[in-house]
Amino acid sequence: MNTTSTSLEQVAELERKYLLPTYNRYPVVLERGKGVFLYDTGGNRYLDFVSGLGVNALGHAHPRIVKAIRDQAAKLVHVSNLYYHQYQGPLAEKLCRLSGLNRVFFSNSGTEAIEGSIKLARLAGHRVGGEAKCRLVALEGSYHGRTFGALSLTGQDKHRKGFEPMLEGVTFVRQNDLESLRSAVNDQTCAIVLEPIFGEGGIRECSVEFLQECRALADKHRAALIFDEIQCGLGRTGTIFAFQTFGVTPDIVAIAKPLAAGLPLGAFIAKEDFASAIAPGQHGTTFGGGPLACRVALEFLAIVEEEKLLERVSRVGAYLQEQLRALTEKRGAAKEVRGRGFIQGIQLDIPARPIVDEALAEGVLFNSTQDTVVRFLPPFLLEEKHVDKGVRVLKKLLGKKRKQV
Ligand SMILES: Cc1ncc(COP(=O)(O)O)c(C=O)c1O
Repeated sequence: MNTTSTSLEQVAELERKYLLPTYNRYPVVLERGKGVFLYDTGGNRYLDFVSGLGVNALGHAHPRIVKAIRDQAAKLVHVSNLYYHQYQGPLAEKLCRLSGLNRVFFSNSGTEAIEGSIKLARLAGHRVGGEAKCRLVALEGSYHGRTFGALSLTGQDKHRKGFEPMLEGVTFVRQNDLESLRSAVNDQTCAIVLEPIFGEGGIRECSVEFLQECRALADKHRAALIFDEIQCGLGRTGTIFAFQTFGVTPDIVAIAKPLAAGLPLGAFIAKEDFASAIAPGQHGTTFGGGPLACRVALEFLAIVEEEKLLERVSRVGAYLQEQLRALTEKRGAAKEVRGRGFIQGIQLDIPARPIVDEALAEGVLFNSTQDTVVRFLPPFLLEEKHVDKGVRVLKKLLGKKRKQV
């Protein structure tokens, strides 16, 4: 492996001096990418199972995305939401057609899509049940982002600690616990908010039965069922929306990560019954839904369709699952495989971060979450041979750990 220590040390030193110390980065300076590979400043190549945390679904430097960005950047990058441009309407139409929902609001990030979703649910709640219909139900162990609304719905103390007080009126229930859900939802509930598959929370799926009960309770109490598909949506489960995989349709769905192929763009899409609760001036954004991001998002969706990438996610995702399951059968540190398609995790009974650190040195990028889970969010371009390489490295490192114990 070529040494990149000089530039790594310089880059790290400057960041240590001038950045808020919020991140604990891996020791690599990435310079460029092509397809499912990334390259550092020393020219070392890495196979990417992370996709920039679920963003680079088309891998790196996809020629059609490069062309769309170049072309649009030379024409118009930003106009604000004071004026029309050619791409926001068609992108909204496309997302409505794909989801079966009715109206879209574009944001810059996933967190903002969650904020907008709960604001809309509050407006709709107040309309049918007055001021008291404002309460939110969310899940223990969930992750929805870092702003106060999203953080207040995030069911993990480690993210909330030190920032209290949170938004009032949030009740947490255990994932897949029907009794806990039934006792939490009532006529004062304006929304039930959940990730169909926990991402940061360790790749844990909601059961279909649990999602169906959420749907029934939301209908009964005239509350919004909000799905956070920021990590699990837009193709990762093998359908364009994760809710299509589970067969339960929400009233509002929040998306972001891969939507504009690496440019910041989020959105929430709502059924008319909820969308009609908002009026001009009640919500807004300066950057959200700009011409560059929207045009690139249209290109992203076209590529997913034309290159039949959802089929690939299902096929290669099943292969990945099979290979990971084989690792758990060896009765070593790997205990369980969770998730599906290109959102999967392997539960270890040892810390995951050292495995991820060592995989980097072997030229493979994995990610760890919840201390003991190795998470896989690869680009949709991944093939079986890439799975073989990743699993080979994982197997070797898990074997090494066993010997050290
Ligand atoms: C499920 C989920 N919701 C919300 C967010 C927040 O999105 P962003 O970081 O784009 O604000 C994330 C980010 O990882 C996420 O995975």
